[in-house]
Amino acid sequence: MSKSIKVKGFLKDVGGASRVTAARHEVIANASDVPQPKDFVRELADQLHPAKMAFRVIAIKDTSPTSKLFRLASVDGHIPVFQAGQYINFRLKIGDSLLTRPYTISSAPYEARGKDGFVEVTIRRNRPYLVPDYFFEHVKVGDVLDANMPFGFFYWEPLRDSRNVVALAGGSGITPFLSMAREIAYGKMKGVKLTILYGSVNSKDIVLKEELDRVEKDCPDVKVVHVLSDDPDWEGEKGFVTKDVIAKYAGEDPTFMFCGPLPMYKLIVKAMNELGVRPKRFRHDVMNNPVDSTRIPGYPLGNESKTFHITVVRGVDETVIKASGNEPVAVALERAAIPVDTHCRCGECGFCRTQLLEGTIFVSPDGDGRRLMDKEMGWFHACASYPTSDLKIKIPIM
Ligand code: FES
Repeated sequence: MSKSIKVKGFLKDVGGASRVTAARHEVIANASDVPQPKDFVRELADQLHPAKMAFRVIAIKDTSPTSKLFRLASVDGHIPVFQAGQYINFRLKIGDSLLTRPYTISSAPYEARGKDGFVEVTIRRNRPYLVPDYFFEHVKVGDVLDANMPFGFFYWEPLRDSRNVVALAGGSGITPFLSMAREIAYGKMKGVKLTILYGSVNSKDIVLKEELDRVEKDCPDVKVVHVLSDDPDWEGEKGFVTKDVIAKYAGEDPTFMFCGPLPMYKLIVKAMNELGVRPKRFRHDVMNNPVDSTRIPGYPLGNESKTFHITVVRGVDETVIKASGNEPVAVALERAAIPVDTHCRCGECGFCRTQLLEGTIFVSPDGDGRRLMDKEMGWFHACASYPTSDLKIKIPIM
C-alpha cells in the first residue's frame, strides 16, 4: 500500500558502520604480502555485467514518423550476453542535467555476438520530451554513448513459461517482442511460437513495421496481428486488443506477455481476468510513472503545485536543491546534476535506493518495490517517490 512515511531520527547506521570499519582495519592488518591470485569469479562477473561501457552509434533509421532506430556497437568489441526483452541503460549529460534512461533492446541477442555484433534500440517521440528530443536532434552516427547492460526480468523463461507465447503490445512496447521474434527466427529459442497482437492507432503509426513484416515472412513460428483503433481503410483487426481478439489468436495454454502504455495495461488486465488467465501465465514489463503525478492512485492532490527544498547528503557534502511535488525525487537530483543510479525508473530494481533522514514522501503504489526492512529503516526508491515536504536525504557517492 502507498503511504507517506516519516523518519524520526537519522544516523541510524552509524553503529553498524563503525563495526564495519573496525573489521576492515583488522583484515588489512592481517593481510598477506603475497600477491593475490587472479579472481576468476570477479573477472567473469565483470564480463557478464560491466559497470561501464561505451557504445558507438553505427546507424540511425526512421522506423515510423515518430520513432527512430539506433544501432550501436561496443567500442571495446565486447557486448555482454543478454536475454530478448532486457534493456540497456544510457547515462547522458544533457545541458546541466545528468540523466540515466533505460531502453529495451529491439535486436536479437544472437546479433550481439561475434566481431560485428551490435544492439539496437528504438526510441519514440510523440511529444516533446527531454531524452527522446536529445536522441532525435543531437545523436548522430559516430557518436559515443555511455551505457551499461543488461538489466530487467521481462524475458521468456523455459522453466516457467509456456512455449506458446502471446505478446500483447502497444506503441513502442513492441521492442522486447521484436527482439524475441528475431531470436526465434535465428533458431535460438527452439520450440517457441510467438503471436504478437500489436495495437496502434493507424497503419502509419506502427513502430518497426518493416522489421516485423520481415521477421514474420522469414519465420513460420512468428505471427504478427496488427489491431488498429482509428484506420477506416484497414482490412485487418480493428479497435483495441480486447478479450475477443486475444481469445481468437491465443491458442493452447499460452503465456501472455504485455508491454505498452498504462491505459492499455488496465484493459489487458481486465481481459486477462475475464478470460480466467492464471497469474503465472500473465507477465508484464515494468510500468513507467505517469507524467502527471495526480493520476497515481492515492497521490495527495494539491501537492503537485508545491515546490520543496531537498538537502542532499553525499559523504561530507550537503547540497540544497529545489524539487516540485509533481516529480519523483530522482528527477530533481538529475536536474541538479547530482549523480543518482537509476535503471528501471519505476521502483522495481532498487538501484536508486535512497535514505530519508527528515521529511515526508509519497510512494507510488505501483512502484513500491522496497523490502519490508527498507521501509522500516526509512529507505525509499527515488525514481518512484515524490516529496510532500522539505526533505533531507542521503545518497551514495557514485
Ligand atoms: S531506478 Fe529502479 S527502483 Fe529506482
